[in-house]
Amino acid sequence: MMKDDEMINRGPVNISTKKEASALLANSSDTVFTQTNQFSSHCLIPTIDNYKQLYQASVDTPDQFWDEQAKKHLDWFTPFTQVSTGNFIQGDIGWFLNGKLNVSYNCVDRHLKENKDKIAIIYEGDKPSQIEKITYYELYLQVCRLANLLLSLGIKKGDTVAIYLPNTPVAIYSMLACARIGAIHSVIFAGFGFESIISRVKDANCRLIITADEGVRGGKTIPLKKKIDEVVCHCKTVEHVLVFKNTGGHVDFNPQKDIWAEEAMLEQRPYCPPEHLDSEDPLFILYTSGSTGQPKGLVHTQAGYLLYAAMTHKYVFDYQNDDIYACVADVGWITGHSYIVYGPLANGATTFIFEGTPTYPTPSRYWEMIERHKITQFYTAPTAIRSLMKFPTSFVEKSNLDTLRVLGSVGEPINPEAWRWYNKFVGRERCSIVDTYWQTESGGHLITPLPGAIPTKPGSATLPFFGIIPKILDPQTGQVLDNADTTEGVLAISRPWPGIARTVYKSHSRYLLTYMKPYPGYYFTGDGVKRDKDGYYWIEGRVDDVINVAGHRLGTAELESALVGSYCCAEAAVVGYPHDVKGQGILAFCILKEGYEDDENTVSILRNEVRNTVGPFASPDVIVITPSLPKTRSGKIMRRILRKIACHESSPEQLGDISTLAEPEVVPLLITKVLKYI
Ligand code: PRX
Repeated sequence: MMKDDEMINRGPVNISTKKEASALLANSSDTVFTQTNQFSSHCLIPTIDNYKQLYQASVDTPDQFWDEQAKKHLDWFTPFTQVSTGNFIQGDIGWFLNGKLNVSYNCVDRHLKENKDKIAIIYEGDKPSQIEKITYYELYLQVCRLANLLLSLGIKKGDTVAIYLPNTPVAIYSMLACARIGAIHSVIFAGFGFESIISRVKDANCRLIITADEGVRGGKTIPLKKKIDEVVCHCKTVEHVLVFKNTGGHVDFNPQKDIWAEEAMLEQRPYCPPEHLDSEDPLFILYTSGSTGQPKGLVHTQAGYLLYAAMTHKYVFDYQNDDIYACVADVGWITGHSYIVYGPLANGATTFIFEGTPTYPTPSRYWEMIERHKITQFYTAPTAIRSLMKFPTSFVEKSNLDTLRVLGSVGEPINPEAWRWYNKFVGRERCSIVDTYWQTESGGHLITPLPGAIPTKPGSATLPFFGIIPKILDPQTGQVLDNADTTEGVLAISRPWPGIARTVYKSHSRYLLTYMKPYPGYYFTGDGVKRDKDGYYWIEGRVDDVINVAGHRLGTAELESALVGSYCCAEAAVVGYPHDVKGQGILAFCILKEGYEDDENTVSILRNEVRNTVGPFASPDVIVITPSLPKTRSGKIMRRILRKIACHESSPEQLGDISTLAEPEVVPLLITKVLKYI
């Protein structure tokens, strides 16, 4: 049963993000910024005409286009008999029907013949001296051993396995081992707290959890196994916990359930035949926050996802044979899935995985890594760029970054100032900048420049990738808006692409309700967008109650439920506000239960509740204690007003008529309180 508040969300464009995006447009020059990319002529797609031709083919004759691409980029055990099926009304989307393949075979085995000794993975731990290089052959042996271990524990095709690991090569082995035997992995970001892990493990009925003793980031140790010990007590479906040694730190060991992974893998044969899986068998579940309720377990399937990840990785990063490609995201998010693991490895690339943080031990860490490993493509988030821009430029200037060709950005709109800094100080004005717009749901890039081919404008994600037909819709009527000049509305996509998530785990109705029903016939992204006269797209941010904090997508409902879970909070409302470094910060308004005081202690109880249940990355930046909240007479919290207060748009004209509120006098009180913090 769908809860009342899970009704179709087609609300107006979120004011705060809309304002930021307009500022973006106003600040940036409207003229096309043509970078002096000295490598353009060597790019895979060297001219805009090449892009236009390929794009046209991908939308005019999609089945022919994708048929060719699927045969070119993937190895099949059994050829597919039909390229695509389904639509956005039923949500019955399928690609490469009846084809049989194996994702781990495509990411590992097929490279062995010619590239057995090529480095598949470069790992840097939290300390710069912790470096490991893993060849494709070594990767193959590890994946086979782990796959056999999973089989020996009774895990079989269709079973779900939770992965709660630090950002290390074992996370990659684990994902590929699941893929090899047809088990569905559900990677849970190692920064998630207790409740978030439990809800994910329970929702997917995971039979096994793969974890490590501890993770290390920025010099701090993170107890992972300890957290899983608590989780297992609450999750009856979990039969075993596989534990990798990362730090060698002490853990409590329960011989009934726990297994030391490395020791057990040594006993396994390093050959495991890859399961022949259907193109549409599930590959993984990845949870993502929505406007309401529990996070949704998006399901990605085998062939379409892999093809889309591989192609976008190849063309968007202009990936060429001897490149050393680095994405410094975490495998716990979709960026890590598609652009640390599946895309690069399907292309036989050397991929980089980094366990640490951008400022440890110094703010030169990224730049030193680029120099050390001769990295050619570097992919990060605007929040990291903004945090590094704050330091003197000498931190970046002293590194030799000559090997770089492509710089990527992902997760949130990149403000032109950060774009220009990235271009000037990291790219030294000779690299391509790719601002890639996409989502957990899309599997891979939707709107993005292609190096060499698409001229860029700072702050714009530019043009659609092959096969993507973006439409701008009127948020209220759903009419397609198509002015030749500037058009603004909500972003929808009008035709399925191979990488789109196929369903929400165990809840297809929620999939339809969230993505397909708001604007029938379209996939609704949840983002506001503007298109300029050159046809360039400028993403304006979420139009729903999702906030984007340092590139992490958080549902305000999730945060509110964590806050009211604390013993001192009666009611809570959370909104985002513009934040210098994180893009958006978290502002929580809380009404206390009887007997609790508005003091530091109470605020820290509330903050800790969110840290423990959702995770430290979701910790509210500002908590405002209030005796009441602006509500309609029927009791609905007026978030629109709270958002405006958070963005300092609180003049009477900006707030509109508040006389119909149940307690209008709370509004000036909140304005004064918020001014103290933001
Ligand atoms: O609002 C958009 C923003 O991030 C959302 C997707 O979040 P998530 O599923 O966690 O995936 C993040 C990594 C792909 C989008 O709905 N977003 C992502 N990339 C950009 C962006 N907003 C503007 N520009 C981008 N390049």
